[in-house]
Parts: sequence; structure tokens; C-alpha cells
Amino acid sequence: MSEAARLYLEGVAGDGSIAARNREDWDRWSIMPRVLRPGGASDGRTEVLGIPAAAPLWVAPVAAQGLGHPDAEVAVARAARAAGLPLVLSQAASRDVEDVAEEAGVYLQQIYLPEHRPAIEPFLARVVDAGAVALVLTVDQPASPHAHAFRLAAAGAVPLAVPRRPPLPFGAAPAAAVTPDDIAWLIRVTGLPVLVKGVLHPDDARVAVAAGAAGIVVSNHGGRQIGGSITSARALPAVAAAVAGDVPVLADSGVDDGDDVFRAVALGADAALIGRPVVRALWDGGEEAVAELLVGVRDGFIRSLRLAGYHDVAALRRAGRGALSALDGSE
Ligand code: FNR
Repeated sequence: MSEAARLYLEGVAGDGSIAARNREDWDRWSIMPRVLRPGGASDGRTEVLGIPAAAPLWVAPVAAQGLGHPDAEVAVARAARAAGLPLVLSQAASRDVEDVAEEAGVYLQQIYLPEHRPAIEPFLARVVDAGAVALVLTVDQPASPHAHAFRLAAAGAVPLAVPRRPPLPFGAAPAAAVTPDDIAWLIRVTGLPVLVKGVLHPDDARVAVAAGAAGIVVSNHGGRQIGGSITSARALPAVAAAVAGDVPVLADSGVDDGDDVFRAVALGADAALIGRPVVRALWDGGEEAVAELLVGVRDGFIRSLRLAGYHDVAALRRAGRGALSALDGSE
């Protein structure tokens, strides 16, 4: 993998400290095992919006995977299917949606809106035809994020794969702002449920739900937008409480292993998403390495679920924060 590609993948905003904080804020929570309970296997399976998964874990949308591997998102789709996990495909993918969707078990499409909304309608029709079960509308992408060093790095990287049919006409400007009306518009145009990704404030979650959002993804974009941003681990409980029972809540940014998935569920998430670790595995070892990673995270979650005394994901959700202990004793 080229140095420019690596810089693109690992880049974060600001002074870089957000990468460590995304991790530390999950680590702030220790798992509190419960013993002397009925034994037996634990079941990691879950359904979010009717979307089945072998564990409460989805693959996050990460752009331009062809910078480090020619099979790019197609390899990740195959690995996700092998692990029984849903795939959220980035709109800025290196391979065509049709090719990726065919290989995925369950396929969701991430959407970035262009300033001129109708420009994306042909792409949305392709997404529906390709069998997407839901859309993930990313709302935390400002109009001109191109100053980030990692984006400049990407400009210097040579892609090993590019889509034959790009989602948007060349030069289409990104939307300066995504509004609640856009959520309703997307639902109307596609007939698909729309999850809103990049929410950190509980009031924004309420606004999204009032506009028709089918789910919320709590995310600071892996630390790529605001260097001083709140982390998902800290934002999640309040967002989950704000929309509890209305729609599912998912979370990403800093989720690395099965214990992080456990922490996310205990803090109120219906599922977690994993981003960079998947692409690191892809670029290091292709489809096989991604499958190994995803199966490892999935099984690590199920193992911790069992060892902590929970029979299934619903039992962990009921226990909530009681399944965790705050390291600093604050809660
Ligand atoms: C992203 N992310 C992202 N999100 C999105 O909605 N559309 C996209 O195209 C991309 N592209 C993208 C590229 C790269 C290189 C990274 C690292 C991230 C954000 C992604 O979906 C997710 O929110 C974070 O990656 C989660 O953090 P971790 O798991 O990488 O810590």
C-alpha cells in the first residue's frame, strides 16, 4: 500500500488527538461480568429494522477502498457475507454498486447528497435496483472538507480500482447543508428506510426522527471532521435516551473489537459499525483477512456476552449500563 493511501485511511482532523480519544472513551467502560447464572451458549444474532445480523455489528461505509486493493469493496462484501454481517457501501466506493451488492449478504447504501438534489436520482434508482434494504444518509460532511491533510494525501494516491459508472456527474457540488426535508425526499424517491449518520446531539436525533428517519447512527466520522469533537462513546447514551423506543440507534468511531461492540450495546446502541480496521485488513491481506477480522470481532462479542452472563443481545440491552463499570468511577 502506498504511503499516500495509508495517510488517507488513518487521517483525522485537528491535532490528531481525536483518534486516541475515540478509543479511550470506549475503554473508559469496563465490562462487569455476572456469574452464578444459568450457563449455555449465548446468541449474538440481532435484527435492526428487520435487517438480520450474526452479531450487532455492521460494516461502516469507507470511501475509496481501491486505493489499497483492486478488489476493494467487492472483497469486503464477500467477507461481510461470510461473517453474516450487513454491509453499508460508501457512495464514494471504488467499485460499482451492482458488483458490490451482488456479493453482499445484506446491502445498505450510504448517501452523500449533491447540492443539486435531482443529480443523484439516477444513482438512487440503481441502488434500489441493486437491492439495497435501506439508505444511510451521512449528514456530518461539510461542503468543503478538502483542506484536511488526508484528503490531499488521497489526491497523491493512485487508485487500483475505480467505478465504471460513477454515482454523480463529474464535478457535482456536495450539498452545503442537509436538511430534515432531504430525509423525507429520499424516502419518497426510493421507498427505502433512511438512517441518518453523523448525529451526536440528542436534539438532532429527535429532529431526524420527526422528519421520518428510520434510525440514527451516532458517529464523529472516525474523528475526520472536527478534531475537538465529542466522541461517540460519550454522545451515545443521551442520543439513545432521546429516541429510545422510536427508532434503532447505531454507533461507530473507535470500535475495534467485540468488547467495544458489547460496550456500545450496553450504552444503548442496537448495533455498532466498524470502519478502519476493515480497510486495514483489506489492504494488508485482502478478502481473507477481512473475513478473519469480522469473524474475530463477531465471535469476540459473543464470547464476552457469554462470559459476562448474558444469554442474548436483548438481555444485554435490558441490563444496559449495569453491564459496565466506569473506570473513573464517574457513573
Ligand atoms: C470514512 N467514513 C465515511 N463515512 C461515510 O458516511 N461515507 C464515506 O464515504 C466515508 N468514507 C470514509 C473514508 C475513510 C478513509 C474513513 C476512515 C472513514 C466514516 C466511516 O463510515 C465511519 O464513521 C468511521 O470510519 C468509524 O470510525 P473507525 O471505525 O474508523 O474508527
